[in-house]
Amino acid sequence: MNTPSNDPHKPSDTPATEVSAPVLREAAEPTEKSSPIPFWLVIFAGILVFWGGFHLASNSGGFKADVYNPEISGAAAGPAAPPDPKVIGKRLFTQNCAVCHQGSGMGVAGQFPPLVASEWVVGGDWVGDNHLVKILLAGMQGPVQVKGQSYNNAMPPWAQLKDSEIAGILTYIRSEWGNSAPPITEEFVAKIRAASTDRKEPWTQKDLKAIPAETISAGGAAAPAAPANPAPAAPPAA
Ligand code: HEC
Repeated sequence: MNTPSNDPHKPSDTPATEVSAPVLREAAEPTEKSSPIPFWLVIFAGILVFWGGFHLASNSGGFKADVYNPEISGAAAGPAAPPDPKVIGKRLFTQNCAVCHQGSGMGVAGQFPPLVASEWVVGGDWVGDNHLVKILLAGMQGPVQVKGQSYNNAMPPWAQLKDSEIAGILTYIRSEWGNSAPPITEEFVAKIRAASTDRKEPWTQKDLKAIPAETISAGGAAAPAAPANPAPAAPPAA
């Protein structure tokens, strides 16, 4: 008989690979293991750190506590530009003068004369810039004509303000509301102040009229040297 043997001790004819095939088909047991950080991520993180450092270094203002200037970056930031006298003048005018002369410069009819188009502010037939500075330094009282209107009141002196502050106020009122007269400089105020120390009581129109007019734009002794002499024959240095 040629029947397959049932002897368990007889070696099987089936190949070993076939026997273990079902076991091999099983998925591998999941294990916990650390995988290395991807190389591209390392590079990317390095670039980020470098860019961050560079950005901080170039925008930190040198890490100085008092640096905030959006116009200037880096260590080149010097002292801030000097403030515009007109800006200072406007602030001081609002604080000191507007209560009487009004923010509009129009004054109050019959009480406080206008500064808009006033001959005292922008200059008139006999009124000079020295008169304007004198009014600020010592005040003004008694009968006065402004733009053909008569006033008879009193304005307090402003001698406690600095030369630069008076210059700022006057520069402001001479260029605001359609007024257009040259700026009054700090030097000019200092000069008029030095020349009028003996005047203690407020000026009257009558007293001022006795003083010859000086204008800041007329050059010569009345004007400060800087803007009035644009070409002071500078030595061309060969
Ligand atoms: C308390 C009210 C008062 C204040 C504040 C005052 N003024 Fe006057 N101002 C007067 C009066 C009043 C006169 C006219 C004086 C007179 O009648 O003689 C006058 C006259 C003047 C004049 C000459 C006339 C004209 O209208 O052009 C000027 C310029 C002037 N003031 C500028 C100023 C400036 C600048 C300030 C601020 C620093 C100031 N005043 C603050 C009341 C005031």
